[in-house]
Amino acid sequence: MHQKLRVGILGAGWPGQQHARALRAGNRAILQACSEKEPERAAEFVKMFAPQNFYSEYAELLGDPQVDAVVVCLPNFLHFPATLAALEAGKHVLCEKPPTMNGAEMKVLQEEAEKRGLVYFFSRQFRFTPAMRRARELITQDALGTIYFAEAVWVRSRGIPLGIGGWFTEKKRSGGGALIDLGIHALDAAWFLMGTPRPVSVTASVFQNFKHLVQTPIFDVEDAAFAFIRFENSAVVQLKTSWAGNLTDEIPEGDGFGRELNNTTIYGTKATVRLRPLTLFQDKAGKLVDTPLHPKDEADSFVLQMDNFLAAIEGKAEPLNNARQAVYLMEMLDAIYLSSNTGREVPIADGTR
Ligand SMILES: NC(=O)c1ccc[n+]([C@@H]2O[C@H](COP(=O)([O-])OP(=O)(O)OC[C@H]3O[C@@H](n4cnc5c(N)ncnc54)[C@H](O)[C@@H]3O)[C@@H](O)[C@H]2O)c1
Repeated sequence: MHQKLRVGILGAGWPGQQHARALRAGNRAILQACSEKEPERAAEFVKMFAPQNFYSEYAELLGDPQVDAVVVCLPNFLHFPATLAALEAGKHVLCEKPPTMNGAEMKVLQEEAEKRGLVYFFSRQFRFTPAMRRARELITQDALGTIYFAEAVWVRSRGIPLGIGGWFTEKKRSGGGALIDLGIHALDAAWFLMGTPRPVSVTASVFQNFKHLVQTPIFDVEDAAFAFIRFENSAVVQLKTSWAGNLTDEIPEGDGFGRELNNTTIYGTKATVRLRPLTLFQDKAGKLVDTPLHPKDEADSFVLQMDNFLAAIEGKAEPLNNARQAVYLMEMLDAIYLSSNTGREVPIADGTR
């Protein structure tokens, strides 16, 4: 009889719970183990998802020979050491965003996974949403023509996260602020729809203007970032992201973070597509026609992502969110911070990826 894959989840906060739910929704794998340091969270998770084994420290779970693959849902500074240790222990990895704190770390993980023949997958469930899948389908059918520009936006007016112990606002533990937390999602959405072209240069500025809005011991990261990225195929992206800002009334109230807008618009020579609400803006005989689009199905993005990760381990699919792309993503973020620090445009070298 074919044995199901056995998965361990490291960190039992909101993302850990989403991945456990996704695991349960499919039938390729079982939840073998969970590790969570914080007792109340651990108890809640165990009650909800009943893993076979429980550990309070993630390193103990990595020593469990019954675990084939892990999902890393720990604070950002643990993504690199936990993923590396998991790969060294022979386990496939699905890691929450950001994949690491910088491009150099991600390159090490890419090489380690390749050397060991293990699947590395970074979590970007937004690539699997109904609107995203429909937009990607239109683009692959050439409905947009040549893509030359994309707008990538995720802004909040009052949405500074803290996490357990305030790690989101401390550079040493987060790697950055709004950019590495929200901007990475917005940038990836646009970049993915564009077909992940190779980035060549970045001009950017990041800002810290709103730390007074939260009570946290350390706040040394940006609360907003604005960037302009050029790609090898001459296309460009404009990225806007913020945890906090005095946003205008064009942006509606969101779900607990003040005004909030998370959207992607891809401009092509034949048509433009916008994700929310999903609409095609198309030239028809010289006239611009707006067409509301309907996603084909409402399948859950975490469930589809987990299925792709597990199918990749089984050798039945290519991982959609792969290590090579994670290196580029982290290099784009590195270049945004460097451009902001130096006040100059920063080239991104064409390495060996
Ligand atoms: N994909 C998404 O949409 C999404 C959404 C939210 C967060 N995230 C990412 O998920 C990660 C976790 O975010 P969060 O909001 O749950 O943070 P969090 O601080 O609320 O949760 C992290 C959990 O890890 C646990 N932990 C820390 N050290 C540990 C250790 N040594 N062993 C075992 N457990 C340990 C903590 O107790 C905590 O419960 C972050 O990297 C974040 O960027 C992704």
